[in-house]
Amino acid sequence: MTQNLLVRTQNTPLRGTITVPGDKSISHRAVMLAAIAEGTSTIRDWLPAGDTLATLTAVQQLGVHVEIDQKSPLAWDLQIEGRGLHGLQPPDQPLDCRNAGTFMRLMAGILAGQSFPSVLDGSYQLRKRPMRRIMDPLAQMGAKISSNNGFAPMHIEPTGLHGFEFQMTIASAQVKSAVLLAGLYAEGTTRVIEIGPSRDHTERMLAAMGVDIKWQDNWVEMRGKRPLSPLDMAVPGDPSSAAFPIVAATIVPHSEITITNVGINDTRTGILDMLRGMGANFSLLNERVSGGEPVADIAVRFSELHSHAINGPVVVRGIDELPVLAVAATQAEGETAVSDAAELRVKEVDRIGVLAGELKKLGVAISEQPDGFTVTGPSRLYAAEVDSHDDHRLGMSLAVAGLATHGLTLVHDAACMADSFPGFVETMQSLGANMELIES
Ligand code: S3P
Repeated sequence: MTQNLLVRTQNTPLRGTITVPGDKSISHRAVMLAAIAEGTSTIRDWLPAGDTLATLTAVQQLGVHVEIDQKSPLAWDLQIEGRGLHGLQPPDQPLDCRNAGTFMRLMAGILAGQSFPSVLDGSYQLRKRPMRRIMDPLAQMGAKISSNNGFAPMHIEPTGLHGFEFQMTIASAQVKSAVLLAGLYAEGTTRVIEIGPSRDHTERMLAAMGVDIKWQDNWVEMRGKRPLSPLDMAVPGDPSSAAFPIVAATIVPHSEITITNVGINDTRTGILDMLRGMGANFSLLNERVSGGEPVADIAVRFSELHSHAINGPVVVRGIDELPVLAVAATQAEGETAVSDAAELRVKEVDRIGVLAGELKKLGVAISEQPDGFTVTGPSRLYAAEVDSHDDHRLGMSLAVAGLATHGLTLVHDAACMADSFPGFVETMQSLGANMELIES
């Protein structure tokens, strides 16, 4: 049985107020860090999505007790009994990361510091994603990790770790975080120098847990070997999920929506800057701090868009939102050129090649380059059958594009949308979006 999504031309405005589920990056980190804290952490509004549930199951396999209050299908409250830096139990089988690259890469940093061997494995998609980017720096800290030629499964052996200064050559919060988490187990100082700022949720949480850590624009420095105090936090709404209704309301005429309680950490708001550069009309309301992260309500209206060049540091701050940005660009006047985004090629799928292939089926004028793509707009989109390629963000981007097509668009393989945004279809329907899931 597969789930497909039917999307019809949206000829009525999107209207209403919604929330989006909790931030995926923060939800992964909260569970992993709470597992190695001393004492019980409380995490509210945690995201129960495909990816983060893999993390939760795996820490339970490592002997961590978790009390779960499933207060809604989209937001759980967790009480996690931390076992301390050295209290995890050896797993009796490989840890299954499913599709979660964040979990696999960050957990490798924690497991490298344990006194028992472990294996990290994942789905057919995750087995194709590069792991040398974390194996190499972790090896420089003394870690013993073997792999299938730089790909999962990774076998991790116990050893002692030491800090070092790591000069990064790719922009990646996952790589930075893997090194910082290994740094918790390392002798001395661990220092990471980035090529530009990437999401800093790991740093914020470690600081809240009492770790001796400091960071600025593109460097982080920390000392490990000290116990972590437990977390008590609420997870803000995921700006990467909010991006889908934001773009939908921006391109569907006369729309007016509000999304409450969205994370607006500066390292994540690239999509807002890109859309603002294209002339999008939105405002941030009730700005406040929650769970150590800045949050706001975002009010969005339909806007006439124009093209805007997208490159440089904004790309890292909005890397996951580039597929849906491409959909906005289909309705913008002129050529929207995205570059410096080669990392898109090693996400769940090659998000440049696959995106271009699927958008072309809808009549979009899009060309690909090695490190990006160019969309010429505004295009009149034609309904067609498209495929998510089992990639949640591509699936949801195609669903948003479907609203701007003339006719009936069918997005094949829609179940993957729940990897990051459970309830995506229901949330869009509550705004009046013409979409429905069908089983076949
Ligand atoms: C993430 C970092 C980004 C992002 C991914 C989540 C994280 O990956 O694309 O969806 O939680 O740290 P990279 O750090 O590999 O660019």
